[in-house]
Parts: sequence; C-alpha cells; structure tokens
Amino acid sequence: MARRGSNSMRPMNHRLNRREFVKTTTAGVAATASLSAAQTTVNAQAPAVISSKSAKPIVISSANGNFHKNGGTKTCVETAFTQMLEGTDVLEALIAGVNVVELDPEDTSVGYGGLPNADGVVQLDSCCMHGPKKRAGGVAALEGVRTPSKVAHAVMESTDHHLLVGKGAQDFARNMGFTIEADLNTERSRKAWLEWKRQTDPKHYLRPQDRKTSARLDNQGILRKLIAEGVIPARHYWGTINCNGVNSKGELCGVTTTSGLAWKIPGRVGDSPILGAGLYVDGTVGAAGSTGRGEANLFNLSSYLVVEMMRQGKHPKDACLEALRRIRANTIEKRLRKSNGDPNFNITFYAINARGEHAAVAMYAEDDNEIGWAGQTQGRRVRYAVCTENGAATLNCEGLIPGALQDNA
Ligand code: GLY
Repeated sequence: MARRGSNSMRPMNHRLNRREFVKTTTAGVAATASLSAAQTTVNAQAPAVISSKSAKPIVISSANGNFHKNGGTKTCVETAFTQMLEGTDVLEALIAGVNVVELDPEDTSVGYGGLPNADGVVQLDSCCMHGPKKRAGGVAALEGVRTPSKVAHAVMESTDHHLLVGKGAQDFARNMGFTIEADLNTERSRKAWLEWKRQTDPKHYLRPQDRKTSARLDNQGILRKLIAEGVIPARHYWGTINCNGVNSKGELCGVTTTSGLAWKIPGRVGDSPILGAGLYVDGTVGAAGSTGRGEANLFNLSSYLVVEMMRQGKHPKDACLEALRRIRANTIEKRLRKSNGDPNFNITFYAINARGEHAAVAMYAEDDNEIGWAGQTQGRRVRYAVCTENGAATLNCEGLIPGALQDNA
C-alpha cells in the first residue's frame, strides 16, 4: 500500500500564502505540530472560556484524512483547509473534506464501500457540530446515502432535531433531495462480508477451500484469519474519520462519519453519531472526536470530557489523556482486558482548542497494522492528519499506555 513518505515534507519555515497553498496542497510539512513542552503545560487557573477572536487556522483529522483522494488531487484535510481559507463556513469545509473519504471506495471504514453489518447491509453513522451557531445534527444506521455527513448537516440546518435514525433518517434524506441507493457495497466490501459469513456460518455459506476440513474458529480467530489473508485491513473493524477545524476568526467546528463496527448487529449504533461521544464542539473552548472502539467511548462520553478538560485549561494532549485514563479505569470486564489488565482495544482522540493548539492521543500509540489500516498507521505507529497554511502532514499520535496494543496480549 502506498504511503506518504517523509520526503514529501516541506520545510517548516516555508510558509505558503493562500494562492500557493491552493496550488500545492499536496505538499507536506515537517512536524509542525509536534507538541512542545510549553504546549503541554496545564494551566489550572485558566478561564472557563478560552475563546479566541483570532486563531491560527488548522484542520486535523484521523490519518485517513490525509491518505485518500477519491481520484482527485486533495485529501480530506487539504480540501477542508483550502475551502476554509477561501472563506467557506468552517463546518461546510470540513464536510467537503470528509466527503472525499466517504466517497472513496478504497476506504472500507467510511461511507460508500464501508464494511457492512451482519446482514451485508452498509449502515452509516455521522454527526456534526457548529461552534459559532451552537447547532448540531446527526444520523445513525442510515442506509443508501454515500455521504451521511451531508445528511447530518441537513438535520442540523433543516430540522428542530439533533438525531434521526434508520428508515426515518433515510426518508428525511430522500425528502431533502439525496439520492438513495439500493446498496452501498463495493465488490471489495461485499467479498469481505461474504468471506466473514462463510467462516462464521460454514454450514450454510460454503467456502470452497474449507469443504474438506472440520475446523471451526471463534470470532477472534476468524478476524485474525481474514486480516492475515488480506480480506479486511487490520483494525478496520472500527474504522472512522473525525475531522475538526478552526479558522482565523477562531470559529470551531467538527464532524465524524463512519460505517461503524464491521459485521455489527443490524441497528447497532456506535459513538460516531452521538454528540458528546464521537464528537463534541464548544465554539468557545474546543473540538474533540474519536476513532476506535465506539462502545468504550459511548460508556464514557469521552469527547465531551475532552472538551470539558480543555475548558478547565488543559492542553488538548492532556485533555485526551484524561479521557483515555477514564476509559482504561472503566474497562473492568475480563473479555476487554489483556492478561496484564490493560484494555485489549485501541481508541484515539483528536482535539483542538480555540487557539488552534491540537493533539491526537491513542490508548496505544503503536498498533499492529502492518497490513494497512487505510492510512491510519505508518508501520505500527498510529498517526493523525494536520493541515495548516504550511501544508498537510501525517504525524505520530501520542499514547497513554507505553508499547503496542499487541504487547502482553
Ligand atoms: N468508532 C466507530 C464505531 O465504533 O462505530
């Protein structure tokens, strides 16, 4: 799988003006956002509101936001940043960014071609929040629309509600003029589902190569096998994109969109469309969102917690660490813990504050994603995407627990 190499990085001291940026948004930067000691200092005396009338414009996202281009020239963060710089409303710019990933059939975690549920149906979740307008919208278990983030935006703009689900969400989308498709599977996602089905229900769905064996695997064993065979990308089980941005006026917004947990029980809704879980934005404080095990996030409403920590003066990195500590402490079920007691899943938070300071922190900064997680990692390192006027870059995430998810498994 092609990866963005460090040789595409542009030196940090080369600032692009708006025209240059729009022309050359594929350029990367050196680690513009590596967290300095000064940035990570916690200010216990900070005011409850850290609103800034002027900020350094920035867009951040999960790493798949600087990977897929859907056949075009710009990634999600480049698209969003360019539009933001041109004066587009921040949320509309972010949604145009995540649309690149939703529409790209190569990303099997979001939108069109996302891995389907247990019945083979692609069900999508998304929500968005507009800081200055103090408005939000979301959809869950939506079928037939490639861009659930746009439907979430329509819920925000055109209804009195914050969340529409299932058939109601689809009927709303149809009435708002969205095209409803019978099936959002691509050949790749359909084949991945069929392979999963053959291995979990071998009596009914026969796998040609297994006709002569009697081996039955448990669900984890099946997943490992599908990953080893390249049928599904490792960790894609909980793929998602979260994208947050702030413009030069300090206007903050965010959006999260996903096809959710692969092979989920039909109707399962994850953290992504739930305000406070997969995304939370307070226009005077900051924005936070997540990728990874949605159930852990739903139980702790972690994005809300991250924003509240930033309200208390914590740097985005320390706010994310606090949410991860809470999840770690609340993970007491044996089935969710490694032999050393730590969580046996990964989850990542992405946060920016009203000044444009930002961070992304995972439970484990290293994950065994060698097979490729649609650009979420480089080698074992969990990454995130950043775009500033210096260009786009994919940077290393910080981690709460040292080592890799798979260590001491
Ligand atoms: N975080 C995505 C999901 O669990 O659905």
